[in-house]
Amino acid sequence: MKDPSRRVILYPQLENESLQHLDTLSFSDDIVKFTEQTRNLKGQPFSFKERDYLLPIYRDKAKEIYIVKGRQTEITEFALNWLLFNLIQNPGTVGLYLSDRDSHTSKFSNLRLRDWALGQSEILGQMAQIKKHSSTTQPFENGSVLYMHSAWGAFDQARSVPADFTVVDEMQSVDIKELDVLQEALSHSKFGYMLGMGTGSEEGSDWHKLWQMGTQSVWDSSSWVPKRSENSIHSYHLPQTIVPWITSEDLVRKKKKMTKRRFETEVIGWWHKGSQKPILEQDIHSLFDRTYELVLGNQVNKTHGKIFMGVDWGGGEKAFTVPWIWQCLDEEIPIFKLLYVSKIEETSIEKQTQMICQLIDDYDIDRIVMDAGGGPYQVQKIEERYAEKAIKCSYMVRPAEPINDTKLDLENHFVIDRTFIIDTIIDLIKRPYVKGKQIIPKISIPAKNMDRVEWIVDQFTCIEAETISLRSGQDYTRYFHDSEEPDDALHACIYAYVAWLVNKGVQWNWISG
Ligand SMILES: Nc1ncnc2c1ncn2[C@@H]1O[C@H](COP(=O)(O)OP(=O)(O)OP(=O)(O)O)[C@@H](O)[C@H]1O
Ligand SMILES: [Mg+2]
Repeated sequence: MKDPSRRVILYPQLENESLQHLDTLSFSDDIVKFTEQTRNLKGQPFSFKERDYLLPIYRDKAKEIYIVKGRQTEITEFALNWLLFNLIQNPGTVGLYLSDRDSHTSKFSNLRLRDWALGQSEILGQMAQIKKHSSTTQPFENGSVLYMHSAWGAFDQARSVPADFTVVDEMQSVDIKELDVLQEALSHSKFGYMLGMGTGSEEGSDWHKLWQMGTQSVWDSSSWVPKRSENSIHSYHLPQTIVPWITSEDLVRKKKKMTKRRFETEVIGWWHKGSQKPILEQDIHSLFDRTYELVLGNQVNKTHGKIFMGVDWGGGEKAFTVPWIWQCLDEEIPIFKLLYVSKIEETSIEKQTQMICQLIDDYDIDRIVMDAGGGPYQVQKIEERYAEKAIKCSYMVRPAEPINDTKLDLENHFVIDRTFIIDTIIDLIKRPYVKGKQIIPKISIPAKNMDRVEWIVDQFTCIEAETISLRSGQDYTRYFHDSEEPDDALHACIYAYVAWLVNKGVQWNWISG
């Protein structure tokens, strides 16, 4: 929320001053000195102490720079300093900051730029005034302007911005193929600078290939050593192992706790081969429809199709209970439209039960499928109350007979091969329905209010796949995820799909083996 009083509190002296003394503001033309001179961070002057590796990156004047990095290596902060420096040094220029999501971009704009950079620095606050800040735009007193957008939908919001200095953050999560759009804008600029950063990703991914087009510099404890010094693009690898505040014990601890992939991409900031991420950010992006909002129970048009609900009970600190409600708009293809999803943070199982019952009533759900484990009390209560339409579901490993409904009639219990059903959902997500020239996602997620649905992206993309050998000798794809990254929404979606399957009364015939 914008707080109009903020500037007054921070800069009472500015109220009565004109901008005349802007002429007297002088900024260093060395970006490192500029940063030390202008920036404060959490009440302290910005310092490069024990961060020698950052200095050459800050001072790098290459037109195109890409950094693959571990998490929390202070690189978004660099991006901000780089933009401030370039826009202040070059009057009348245009800067563009893009991140993968709305929530990341607004955090950059409202927290880092407005509250931390401008709010904590008198000199910057005069050069770029908080009262002129909006979450997408910050004008500077020298005629420069910074635009901040998310990379949703092929950089749609950025297409029309004639940028001189462009930053793309979280490169591992944006559609690299669409970067051409930005390069096009940059090519019309006499500056045309591009800076991209992100964690590691799959070996051979587009982000990896782009990074490889650069110098691929690594830090050898005193300097950056390029692997391909002849390349005009500069690229760096900045792992958590070189930052001063992470000890080798920290690294050992992280390695034990994290999946191999996550450790490699997020800690080492490197390219991972081996287990694959079957669902990518772009796959979920393509399901989002920014023209519609989630629908309230009393506004659902039941003539459009039956309504199904999946519930995954969350345990532990990071996991939440997730209800997923969708309507099947086409039974044959099938096509589903999400009506409602949320993270229930309520820990009382009694209240959780009430909340789910309320949703079942509000949306007049035709069939409910719940995770059989994880919430025995809730399951029992809901089964009792909605005996004719609530079913519990368990996963098992049985590729030869993936669906087992022998317990359905007697125990109200549906058993399904975990990999089979995850594969089914992956297919539903990744293979849209093609009708002539029209490409229609089989799952549509209303995203007009992005805040309500953006969180599910991580919950679908966190799963990894590896091949294991079963005792039968058969190869089997196993899906797993890091314990720090919950996948409750994915499973709630799966249960909602199972609800549709059960309702359809599919004849369980398939060819095994
Ligand atoms: N020079 C510095 N001294 C102290 N703290 C810093 C410095 N630079 C950045 N920070 C702080 O360190 C934290 C991590 O920085 P930042 O968010 O820029 O890292 P990042 O590499 O972009 O992380 P992520 O991978 O999560 O996007 C932030 O809270 C930031 O304010
Ligand atoms: Mg960052």
